[in-house]
Amino acid sequence: MTDVLINFDDYQKRARELLDPMIYGYYASGAQDEITLDRNQSAYQDIFLLPRVLNDVSVRSTETKVLGETISFPIMVAPMAFQGMAHSDGELATVRAAGAAGSIMILSTLSTTSMEDVVAAASGPVWFQLYVYKDRELTEGLVKRAEAAGCKALVLTVDAPLLGRREADIRNHFHLPAGMEAKNLLPAGMQRLDKAENDSGLASYVASLLDPGIAWKDIEWLRSITKLPVIVKGILHPDDALKARDYGASAIVVSNHGGRQVDTAQATIKALPKITEQLNDSIEVYVDGGVRRGTDVLKALACGARAVLLGRPILWGLAVNGQAGAEAVLQLLKADFDLAMALCGCRSVQEIQRDLIAE
Ligand code: FNR
Ligand code: LAC
Repeated sequence: MTDVLINFDDYQKRARELLDPMIYGYYASGAQDEITLDRNQSAYQDIFLLPRVLNDVSVRSTETKVLGETISFPIMVAPMAFQGMAHSDGELATVRAAGAAGSIMILSTLSTTSMEDVVAAASGPVWFQLYVYKDRELTEGLVKRAEAAGCKALVLTVDAPLLGRREADIRNHFHLPAGMEAKNLLPAGMQRLDKAENDSGLASYVASLLDPGIAWKDIEWLRSITKLPVIVKGILHPDDALKARDYGASAIVVSNHGGRQVDTAQATIKALPKITEQLNDSIEVYVDGGVRRGTDVLKALACGARAVLLGRPILWGLAVNGQAGAEAVLQLLKADFDLAMALCGCRSVQEIQRDLIAE
């Protein structure tokens, strides 16, 4: 029965067989030596649990709330660019999968489907991830469109003033395959991502069009042009977590961009506890990077996160079987999380406390 995919490694192996190496390389790789990429995952394996017993776990709920929105389990879909390269339905498949599973999709600025089309296909909430272009009018236009389309929050990514150096993408001359475009940027004429000389096409796109000058005051600027809550994604330093809150963020995502930006940046589950301690429940904290098992989700919640974001496994699910594949990936992690809760004596997410983690 080698055909049955029972964990995310199985999905990744199958996806690798199915995808063009340039595409697989873009999805899978991290920056430079991929130390952070590996550590995000292995750091979870270095944390040990002290399960509680005899708690009558016959009735359990994995439900929680993020920014007032009820989701059926504390796992959301991380923003990831160019999903049309994984499956012809691209982001439409992902948003349907997220809705069917009772979760939220965070849609990348750099999607191969327009935000209007994605929201129209959604049965659950969509949050829009924003990259700030040098052209601020264009950026403001993206924000207004996201709000008009019905997105429920903005996720401002702050860890990519320039793109991390991803060697696979340089070797493969990463670019968008023929017929694919960054659809949200079509009106601005910035939809193409062509081959670059000795570089990743994405790295040169980012360097020429995105604003490396974004700064704290831009959170205030963003808040002045939208009513949507602003979530700041890409925080690792506890002082930056406090600053994000003080500049008006409604939530933060503790993230190192899945090890794709600064290599040797700390593993997110290691950075999380100090941040949640400092913030002391004043705003919601989410975390992403290397979450692959239900116990990882449980550990993140025990360290004070309200929810996690799931990245690459969604792309593997999409590549394997479109919407059904992405949904299967979400259901697999949900079931695994539910089992982890039961085996640790937790009946609700509120019962997941720090003392479940061995010091
Ligand atoms: C990303 N990520 C990302 N983040 C973001 O804010 N905007 C984006 O457009 C993208 N694009 C993107 C593409 C691909 C292929 C990957 C793998 C990742 C980062 C993403 O949101 C998230 O932080 C990490 O992927 C989480 O780590 P895991 O779950 O992939 O280990
Ligand atoms: C990436 C960008 C698009 O990680 O966020 O590839």
